[in-house]
Amino acid sequence: MEIQKQLKSHGAWIGKWTFILAATGSAVGLGNIWGFPYKAGTNGGGAFVLIYLACILMIGVPIMIGEIILGRSSGNSPINAMRRMALASNTSSSWQIIGWSGITAGILILSFYSVIAGICFNYILISATSSGAMSASDQFSEVISSPLNLLFWHTLFMVMTALIVSAGIKDGIGRMVKILMPMLGLLMIFMVVYSMINGNFSQAMSFLFAPDFSNVDANTFLQAMGQAFFSLSLGMGSIMAYGAYMPKDQNVVNTSFTVASLDTLVAVLAGLAIFPIIFAFNLEPGTGPGLVFVSMLTAFNQMTFGWLIGPLFFTLLSIAALSSSISLLEPGVAFLSEEGYLSRKMAAELLSLFIWILGFGSALSFNIWSDFNLTPGRNFLDSMDFIANQILLPLGGMLIAIFVGWFMKEQIIKDELGQINPTVFKLWKFFIRFIAPFSVAFVFVSQFF
Ligand code: TRP
Repeated sequence: MEIQKQLKSHGAWIGKWTFILAATGSAVGLGNIWGFPYKAGTNGGGAFVLIYLACILMIGVPIMIGEIILGRSSGNSPINAMRRMALASNTSSSWQIIGWSGITAGILILSFYSVIAGICFNYILISATSSGAMSASDQFSEVISSPLNLLFWHTLFMVMTALIVSAGIKDGIGRMVKILMPMLGLLMIFMVVYSMINGNFSQAMSFLFAPDFSNVDANTFLQAMGQAFFSLSLGMGSIMAYGAYMPKDQNVVNTSFTVASLDTLVAVLAGLAIFPIIFAFNLEPGTGPGLVFVSMLTAFNQMTFGWLIGPLFFTLLSIAALSSSISLLEPGVAFLSEEGYLSRKMAAELLSLFIWILGFGSALSFNIWSDFNLTPGRNFLDSMDFIANQILLPLGGMLIAIFVGWFMKEQIIKDELGQINPTVFKLWKFFIRFIAPFSVAFVFVSQFF
């Protein structure tokens, strides 16, 4: 029988905190520090933040619990996890489509994520040496207009990602997150304290927390939900894959709340690090994706210790990106290596090579391919982003919720959740069965109108 196929094991996280560090590392990334502040900035501040929080609690956390249950009960990569759990629940093994779609999404996301993370690397150097003679927006144009420059930093970032994943769970990912996450925490606190003292903190607070619902429309919900999925790394199996290495005695529900809280905390702190500086230098909060590269560099150029604070800020961004990119690569590598045909190292190298080449399309879409549309009205990078984030992740998340809520054997779920307050269990069941699938379906469909 298929279910008894012997699959290679990947090892497990050592220590109680490693899963939390790794999952938080996956969740906290460019989505928090680059994406969240500019999306809050362009969608009316506080109102967006409130809707975002609701999405995290009502859709994100229930699905995260579902992903961890699937991963840990099977101990396998998302494809085999879904196959096993479907068979163990006496239902169709076609549910493994969730795994396939997830690995595809991971490949697409990582291909452009790496290009943007490469720009963050580049900015560590730029912010340290920039004299301010060239305006920050000219500087940004210069950075993205050079294919060779973008490809150089993209290559560096992909090599680092591949090296960490190829070293395995214990010696690679597990060890790196124990170094990277404390660094990230310290840098984050430093940046917020710096902004509190030197920036316009009260204006930033009212911008982020005073809700203005006048500009809220269906698109705000779409943006907020998409951001919640992306930020919590849901819908593609990153958390499922990491869950497979989680010790059995760890509490799934508490852990999910911890990871979601830390992720939200970092997103809000990123806003509190960025906006006080933006307001202190009279810059616009609603400039969109260029917020950290153009507006922040403008501020660093004018700041007394900008040559020092700037590189620290972009190091923070780069670390966050690296601890996320490894979780985008892991599900595919775990799948290729557990089937037994390839070693983990070979699997990581081959898959990274493929993603690296795919990333060329995104790097070139900033310059020589800027007029080339891969999907109607979208250049290469935007197409990757669209297919993964607007289509594959919501569908993946919705199917995960439907599988866990309606099809998965109750006993397996109960074994994974262990001792649990019956009210909490009922609430979770309600959210994963009804609220999560229906709201995702609703928001998903509404984007096409
Ligand atoms: N969550 C990360 C961020 O906020 C990115 C990420 C890592 C991700 N793994 C993922 C996004 C899986 C979606 C799905 O930057």
